[in-house]
Amino acid sequence: MNFRFGVDYYPEHWPEDRWETDVRLMAEMGLTVVRLAEFAWQKMEPAEGRYDFGWLDRILDILDRHGLKAVLGTPSASPPAWLVEAHPDILPMDSQGRRMSFGGRHHDCQSNPDYRVHVERMVSAMANAFGHDSRVTGWQIDNELGNSHHELCHCAHCRRAFQKWLENLYGNIDTVNGSWGTVFWSQTYDRFEQIPTPALTATAHNPSLLLDWKRFHSDLIIDFLESQVRVIRSAAKDQFVTHNFMGLFDVVDYFKLARSLDFVSHDQYPFGFWEPKQSPAGLAEALDLMAGLKHKTFWVMEQQAGITGWQTMSESPRPGQLALWAAQSVAHGADAVVFFRWRTCTVGTEQFWHGILPHNGMPGRRYDELKGLIRGLGPLMPRFEGALSDADVGILYSYEQNWAFEIQPHHPELNYVSYVQGIYQSFHERNTPVDFLPPEADFGGYKIIVAPLLFVELPGLAQRLSEFARQGGILVLTMRSGVKDQANVCQTERPLPGIFGDLTGIEILDYDCLRFRHVPVERNGQAFIAKLWWDVVNLRGAEAWASGSGGGHAGEPAITRNPYGAGKVWYVGSCPDEGLMKAFCKALTEEAGVDPLGPHVPGIELSRRRAADRDYLFVLNHSEETKAPLVDPSWTRLIGRDLIAPFDFQVYERPKRP
Ligand code: GLA
Ligand code: ZN
Repeated sequence: MNFRFGVDYYPEHWPEDRWETDVRLMAEMGLTVVRLAEFAWQKMEPAEGRYDFGWLDRILDILDRHGLKAVLGTPSASPPAWLVEAHPDILPMDSQGRRMSFGGRHHDCQSNPDYRVHVERMVSAMANAFGHDSRVTGWQIDNELGNSHHELCHCAHCRRAFQKWLENLYGNIDTVNGSWGTVFWSQTYDRFEQIPTPALTATAHNPSLLLDWKRFHSDLIIDFLESQVRVIRSAAKDQFVTHNFMGLFDVVDYFKLARSLDFVSHDQYPFGFWEPKQSPAGLAEALDLMAGLKHKTFWVMEQQAGITGWQTMSESPRPGQLALWAAQSVAHGADAVVFFRWRTCTVGTEQFWHGILPHNGMPGRRYDELKGLIRGLGPLMPRFEGALSDADVGILYSYEQNWAFEIQPHHPELNYVSYVQGIYQSFHERNTPVDFLPPEADFGGYKIIVAPLLFVELPGLAQRLSEFARQGGILVLTMRSGVKDQANVCQTERPLPGIFGDLTGIEILDYDCLRFRHVPVERNGQAFIAKLWWDVVNLRGAEAWASGSGGGHAGEPAITRNPYGAGKVWYVGSCPDEGLMKAFCKALTEEAGVDPLGPHVPGIELSRRRAADRDYLFVLNHSEETKAPLVDPSWTRLIGRDLIAPFDFQVYERPKRP
């Protein structure tokens, strides 16, 4: 596609006589693509039906003259005041029945029929104006869908839409009552119209209602996106459609949100609002999940370009760090990296979310650093365009499990995302590439599949996992698997781990939520810790690989292994500490014959992109120390110096080996 680096640009924030200077500086820096317009509804339509695309046309011309193409954002994340005034119920309602005010952004209810009409009208006006315009290369739908929509919306439209969604799923009200167990606390419904959204109530809502609400909410956002994708596809020619995702964000099933798009884009903010700031492994994980959504390379549509901040600010990225983070994105499968934002804005909520240029618009250290990156890395990127890591390890990632644990975390510190993070981190530290897979993926090409916390039944999954193990795969299952049916009701047919009993060769006799204590665990004389949860496991064919050594659970298996067909099935009955997870990961990868990309050096990350006949290895130094060379001589260095300076990186190439 030929785009490697770009920037998010808001010409509407600056006087028009500055535009030419901005674009010239972008071109000199080596940028070739610019995202525009994603919050500019009012500028494009100052009053209903009065479109003004003149300013967009003028900036597109300037970009074109300097050899840059545009990605246009649809502006549905910021409905203008005139629209909200005409249809006040576009404003979403929170779980306490409070109507949100105009202001900020994302102040929209996605079920609102008037809003949907106006969004489709606006998007089709844009698509008609620019859908055949060679200055425009693609489209971004909305902005970070689901962001700011966490518990929204509880308005009458959403309630009706939820009831319709349930009717569609269950067919009749008796089935809802039966599936949810509404007999509990006298919640039996006579009609769908009686079913509430999970709004503020005296105690807690039914967990089955809550899970369906999260599924509904996710489907609503997907539907909102797809309605815009359809409008654009019907009017546009030779332009891609994407959306900017947010890594491990969990309100929408990202695998499903990705389906209608040509490729996924991601927003990567290492120093965002997070405290503590994200670790290199955490950043890598978000990128790998993005690659997994369509099992395809992706764009970063917003890559951090300076200090982040709204009311408070992050620390400043260190010299080299912005370039390193962008290189990390490329190392994990980004084919293009678009920096957020061009120039730090002087007005509005994001005055302190810094761009490549400071407030005064003069190119400085960030400009020079990223220019250097583009010059070095840009020309190499066509060599591995479209290539992913070709991992032997797959982590099954399920939004439904995540939601079910948000509803019932068991232990206040148990959380699906962090549990998965613990697993990911141990592979990352071993320099072992990992793919994230949706539950319906084909497991065939993998040596190891880790399927954590399969709490709620997913149709057909247990059978496909058995098949994977039967044919020689190494499968890892964990605590709280096989507990619930699809409606989030506890199954009673078999002892835990339910449908996974035969596969794991164990039976769970009892369990213990480790609220205020840990359980010491022993493996080959080494001491580790299990946290949060303990399954009391009875071996029925499996063997214990590690066992409890105190805490009321001495001698009970902590991690088990069961031969199954030509493969093995492991079971982890707790939340292992870092040390145990690492030792376990080592045992697994050795058993499966999965070699790391290279030796573990603290602060150094290794990542691979495997093209048709060549491998590319990225060596990224996230530490403050200079590191000695660590790859073997079979690799040819394309970028970087012999010694790796703090926040610097190297890229190597060699012919692909089997
Ligand atoms: C998000 C959004 C951007 C901007 C940045 C900084 O990633 O997509 O529009 O708001 O955060 O806050
Ligand atoms: Zn609503």
